[in-house]
Amino acid sequence: MLVLGIESSCDETGVALFDSRRGLLGHALHSQIALHADYGGVVPELASRDHVRKALPLLEQVMAQSATERGAIDAIAYTAGPGLIGALLVGASIARSLAWSLGVPALGVHHMEGHLLAPMLETPAPAFPFIALLVSGGHTLLVRVDAIGAYRILGDTLDDAAGEAFDKTAKLLGLDYPGGPQLARLAAGGDPARFRFPRPMTNRPGLDFSFSGLKTFALTTSQEAGDDAQTRADIARAFEDAVVDTLVIKCRRALEQTGLSRLVVAGGVGANRALREALQDMACQHSAEVFYPRLEFCTDNGAMIAYAGACRVQAGQRDGLEVSVRPRWSLEELPAV
Ligand code: KG4
Ligand code: ZN
Repeated sequence: MLVLGIESSCDETGVALFDSRRGLLGHALHSQIALHADYGGVVPELASRDHVRKALPLLEQVMAQSATERGAIDAIAYTAGPGLIGALLVGASIARSLAWSLGVPALGVHHMEGHLLAPMLETPAPAFPFIALLVSGGHTLLVRVDAIGAYRILGDTLDDAAGEAFDKTAKLLGLDYPGGPQLARLAAGGDPARFRFPRPMTNRPGLDFSFSGLKTFALTTSQEAGDDAQTRADIARAFEDAVVDTLVIKCRRALEQTGLSRLVVAGGVGANRALREALQDMACQHSAEVFYPRLEFCTDNGAMIAYAGACRVQAGQRDGLEVSVRPRWSLEELPAV
């Protein structure tokens, strides 16, 4: 079965073609970073308009890359939420119109399910059940995954998402949007011994997170210690160490509490090298295995949507006649496959 995937929930337009027998045939991505950079964050209306401009050219690119005719497509999957409503509606409208014109089914996919299943595109793919750590710009979730659609949220953030905390702290260190990767680069030259930030909510039971205090901690530290280049790098390092440590502590706890031995890490912050190394060390000590998507599929992309859509369409799921998107949508509401 050949499934086209369209991702447009935020500031990246992604298109991909996944074949259930042959795997991923092609994928293309357009990032809107340059478009939003002057504003210091995503401007929703600009995002929607840019998805309109880029979706069809990216589709052409993917079809050419895969040497496939549109008529061969069996189904179209698109991100139906969570995300920015205008951006979601663009992807949904294009996907539904295309599906209608080709006479094939369409299916709205949950963006976080896409992230969670992205490591399935790699070899070896993780077997069920596993724990998923989903760390993106909008979410920080620990999920027990027993099968596709059998998700139990074990931990969530009470305030900022991990990526959001990276971006906000990066901004106050004078870095451009989106600051996560830049903060990580700055941290590489920082002294790990100069400042120590708290590891929020790790000294009490449970698997929830809270990251907004770290940004305030970074702010007060920079007010007290100055903002010369080395101090900024030292603050970035202390911040990154605190986030990484906190995530590792909670992942270890989730593995211990559930008795599971496989951990999947996905979402933009999953691209962070310090986090990857620390999770790998923890997993080694606990005889557990960690699975990641390839780096380019940690952040938003069309491949994860095509894959998640293919799993569900193959099981007979498809949209009704109405076109609707869900800016807010819990993973636990998804039907099982
Ligand atoms: O999954 P994603 O592409 O979009 C959402 O669904 O939110 O994640 C984007 C987030 C941003 O907050 C970005 O700063 C963060 O992931 N990010 C990173 C790194 N690469 C991306 N944060 C820390 N270190 C990185 N290397
Ligand atoms: Zn995402």
